[in-house]
Amino acid sequence: MMSKVRVLISLLCVTGVCVFLRDSSLETFLERSLQHQYTRPCACEKCVSEDDPLFMQRFNKSVEPFLSAKYSLSEDDFSWWKGLQAEKRNLTFYNTTVDNLFKIFPSNPDVVGPSPDRCRTCAVVGNSVNLKRSHYGPLIDSHDVILRMNHGRTEGYEADVGKRTTHRIFYPESSMDLDNTTHLVLVPFKILDLEWLIGAFTTGFSGKSYMPVNSKIKAKKDLVMVINPAFMRYVHVKWLEEKGRYPSTGFMALVLALHICDEVNVFGYGADKDGNWSHYWEKLRDKKFKTGIHPGNHEYEMIQQLAKQLKLNFYTGW
Ligand code: C5P
Repeated sequence: MMSKVRVLISLLCVTGVCVFLRDSSLETFLERSLQHQYTRPCACEKCVSEDDPLFMQRFNKSVEPFLSAKYSLSEDDFSWWKGLQAEKRNLTFYNTTVDNLFKIFPSNPDVVGPSPDRCRTCAVVGNSVNLKRSHYGPLIDSHDVILRMNHGRTEGYEADVGKRTTHRIFYPESSMDLDNTTHLVLVPFKILDLEWLIGAFTTGFSGKSYMPVNSKIKAKKDLVMVINPAFMRYVHVKWLEEKGRYPSTGFMALVLALHICDEVNVFGYGADKDGNWSHYWEKLRDKKFKTGIHPGNHEYEMIQQLAKQLKLNFYTGW
């Protein structure tokens, strides 16, 4: 009797092991073949860099958003860039200035590419008046990367715009001091802007621009990044079909986010009811400003299109 029970128990054990082995190897097999077919570029619900024919007509992964010591700007891109603010000096002078720049600042941009096990969320925060009373603050602060631009302040406006900033994008005429955890992202429109960056971190800048600029700036040297003029041209040509004089800082920041983030959420874009780009922290002075030299309507339509294609989420405020 005892031996019959033992045989029965042994049989049950063997069957159990077989079923376990079969199920787990089937699972592994299925997992492996699925992975073989498609590895997602990031761990978000939807990744910006996932292919999509309409998006791919404009998006070009190979255009480097930031300058680096080894990057070489083409004659053609330089000629386009020279036209933005009537630069007179030549490409050789530009190259020497860039070489000097990388003696002071990191020679490689601090950017991590997409990875299947990471979801890097970004909030791009423009300066629109539509942020007023939006209560977006906590939502904005919940992102990994928070890009703000120019004078977009946070003190006193935390409930609507949040308080964290990981990257601030500006040019010399719209610069400000930063804390030592925020990346300074310079948008250069002329060689003088690169000279300003060097001067502002060293001896002080004494040159003259079309309006007064800070001679010195407080920010962390190791967190300085410079937008590539070829990237600016790419945004103008590919994303805005050459409308307007050149893209706004805000639109460049938005395309930059599409290049460096896995998920992009957009806040603070949109003119007021009279078509002016008014700010959330001040009363508009020049009622005829509209969107300046930038193709504001076209930029806005492009953001709406991207939202429709689920490449970003557009929070339109009030
Ligand atoms: O005015 P400022 O250039 O500092 O604003 C930063 C960016 O925010 C602009 O370049 C523009 O793209 C965006 N903006 C907007 N609507 C506004 C104000 C600013 O879309 N009312």
